[in-house]
Amino acid sequence: MKAVHVLNGPNLNLLGTREPETYGLATLGDIEARPSALCKHRGIILHFRQSNHEGDLVTWVQEAGRAGEPVILNAGAYSHTSIALYDAIKAAKTEVIEVHLSNIHAREDFRRQSLISPVARGVILGFGAFSYDLALEAFLARTEASGNRPYRKQIMKSVSHAQKHPGQRRKRE
Ligand code: DQA
Repeated sequence: MKAVHVLNGPNLNLLGTREPETYGLATLGDIEARPSALCKHRGIILHFRQSNHEGDLVTWVQEAGRAGEPVILNAGAYSHTSIALYDAIKAAKTEVIEVHLSNIHAREDFRRQSLISPVARGVILGFGAFSYDLALEAFLARTEASGNRPYRKQIMKSVSHAQKHPGQRRKRE
């Protein structure tokens, strides 16, 4: 993984002052800090962006798709309304993790449905700024697991041992 895109939708530029009881006190700049440090440490380029315009998000998803680079997307209110983003994610040749700061299922009825969840690789929500960190960790863990053959081999051996001998620990090699 050479680069990762963190895309933020409408009103997320207001974090820090916007409904702090729901979204916390961290600004978008604060949220960027941990993923930025993690990416720097691993030599990954981080594209961290925000726009209030639906079309910008669509364009950025398309760009990431063309580059085959993963996307962490907090589409804000467009998550609940945007067929254009649904189409962009579906067409993109890359994985998109949907994130939300708040637990949208514990809020107003109109937030309980996300149009983009069905085309996202996964969804992480309700952990405030940590939702972003967890999404990045998920991409890193998946990349490392798929690139690290000995590690995968160990896991597959453990799985097959557990299937053959349920309840018994496999001896370490
Ligand atoms: C949000 C949840 C959305 O419903 C809302 O419109 C936002 C933020 C979140 O991160 O919790 O702008 O995506």
